[in-house]
Amino acid sequence: MLRVGIIVGSTRPGQKATTIAKWVHEILKSRQDAEFEVVNIEDFKLPLLDEPVSPTMHQYSKAHTKTWSAKVASFDAFIFVTPEYNHGTSAALKDGIDFLYTEWNNKAAGFVGYGGAGGVRAVENLRLVMERSRSLTFERRSPCRSSQTSRTSRFLSLTRSMTRPCMQWQHFTEVRAPR
Ligand SMILES: Cc1cc2nc3c(=O)[nH]c(=O)nc-3n(C[C@H](O)[C@H](O)[C@H](O)COP(=O)(O)O)c2cc1C
Repeated sequence: MLRVGIIVGSTRPGQKATTIAKWVHEILKSRQDAEFEVVNIEDFKLPLLDEPVSPTMHQYSKAHTKTWSAKVASFDAFIFVTPEYNHGTSAALKDGIDFLYTEWNNKAAGFVGYGGAGGVRAVENLRLVMERSRSLTFERRSPCRSSQTSRTSRFLSLTRSMTRPCMQWQHFTEVRAPR
């Protein structure tokens, strides 16, 4: 079964990200062709990146990195729920991404952005970050390359169903942000 992690992109006290991630989960969980898990970065207590060796080497020295690595590695694809902070994604989410590398590789990534202006710039920013992490971001929708696995193309069919909720969310935040 395809496993999709819904990553909560804010660690701010009183953050909206968890509510939105649960909302996304609610929409998707009835699907029979994938299973979904909401993952809260806050639970992993990641400091600012404190690994001496580049994550591309996969030589982790800290317990928090190993725990985070195991969780991310358990997924085939991701939906990042990202706030927009100063026209980008959150520092907490970027930090969580920077801690790892191979765990993101050759997996698909979809995005739900939100914020005062709909989170569009945060998603655009994050999409480039994930492309560097060798994830296939669904807005590109290019044919799968041979290096990409079949799980990527299966996720693309899921993300098509996500497009409408993403769009709805961008309007939704401006009208009534959930508490
Ligand atoms: C430091 C900071 C910077 C922000 N910058 C932007 C911004 O550039 N564009 C925007 O639309 N909203 C911006 N906002 C509003 C947030 O996107 C909004 O408060 C959102 O709910 C934050 O997500 P969170 O509640 O999950 O942390 C900013 C908020 C904060 C705290």
